[in-house]
Amino acid sequence: MKFNRKDILKALETISVSGEGKNMVESGAVQNIMTFGDEVVVDLLLTTPALHIKKRAEVDVMKAIHEHVHQKAKVKVNIKVQAPEKTEIKGKAIPGIKNIIAVASGKGGVGKSTVTANLAVNLAKMGFKVGLLDSDIYGPSMPMMFDVQTEKPLSVNVDGKSKMKPIENHGVKLLSIGFFTKPNQAVIWRGPMAAKALNQMIFDAAWGELDFLLVDLPPGTGDIHLSIMQSLPITGAVVVSTPQNVALADARKGVAMFQQESIDVPVLGIIENMAYFTPEELPDNKYYIFGKEGAKMLAEDLNVPFLGQIPLVQSIREAGDIGHPAALQDNTPFSRAFEVLTQNVVQETVKRNNSLPPTEVIKITTMAGCSAVNK
Ligand SMILES: Nc1ncnc2c1ncn2[C@@H]1O[C@H](COP(=O)(O)OP(=O)(O)O)[C@@H](O)[C@H]1O
Ligand SMILES: [Mg+2]
Repeated sequence: MKFNRKDILKALETISVSGEGKNMVESGAVQNIMTFGDEVVVDLLLTTPALHIKKRAEVDVMKAIHEHVHQKAKVKVNIKVQAPEKTEIKGKAIPGIKNIIAVASGKGGVGKSTVTANLAVNLAKMGFKVGLLDSDIYGPSMPMMFDVQTEKPLSVNVDGKSKMKPIENHGVKLLSIGFFTKPNQAVIWRGPMAAKALNQMIFDAAWGELDFLLVDLPPGTGDIHLSIMQSLPITGAVVVSTPQNVALADARKGVAMFQQESIDVPVLGIIENMAYFTPEELPDNKYYIFGKEGAKMLAEDLNVPFLGQIPLVQSIREAGDIGHPAALQDNTPFSRAFEVLTQNVVQETVKRNNSLPPTEVIKITTMAGCSAVNK
């Protein structure tokens, strides 16, 4: 028995590949064909590792050769699975974005999003160009906190490429995973999928020039964080915690997550939210309902900067709910607390950029009490 490669190719052309409207040869799956006497070896390259697809391809090839070439041919099929395209692009600087700050918390509900929204508004008030990326796949809350729930990002043309245009309010450019999901629909994102969506929101978005891009991370320290963080060139991270023990234990894990070798993101510091309760009519009274200075002590213990205390105030919650972050108001006890916090975040970013090798072209210099960002 002797076979001709052409006949085998013809046989393989009778196999249709489901979903593609192409036959197996056209789809590019056939990598090589070899014949030795009565033996035919076909190398296939498939894009899916699913076992039933592999089996099906193997059976199809055998059948086609037996039917169209020779009933008694000994057919051997080698299948290789093509590695999926990598979405990881760690270290790739994003043109125009000088600093990416990730905001994390070990535990949910500690006020991570509230702190991030107010930090963004304050940075904008200080004159910085600010973007905010809400990557909390479990509960994106930024559209509500910025009162833009009903908006949808439009596509704009930048240098011949279409890009997603962030929604702007309160001086902050915003993109949220919440713009792309239905409000009442539970969406379960897997790490790579979330990382891909986020990559698009960063690299395929028209952010323009930004001094700071804040990223509101999902709570916790799971796989999904690895995916997100390895895909973004993060300048530094801040960790939000309440002074309560359960939150502190998780915040400790949060810090450890950034410091682990595979992530290696500098921790700019810890923020203590709900540090104490203050009734609006008695602003000098402080009630340490979640414990006193727990996050501050954790920062000392872990030898990372302590960035500030934010009190628990009813109007912070109310302002968040109506989409008008509390830091927009001037001269209130909490707007002053946020100002101190924001200045510390800027200062720690300055220090980080001065002391560590720039992963991207980033440098911030401090000027006249306040701060400015330069290239
Ligand atoms: N300092 C604060 N004072 C009053 N309410 C707050 C404060 N920080 C957060 N909240 C409220 O607590 C709830 C949880 O905050 P959120 O920012 O959504 O937490 P997370 O993003 O960590 O899950 C929200 O209702 C928010 O308005
Ligand atoms: Mg949140």
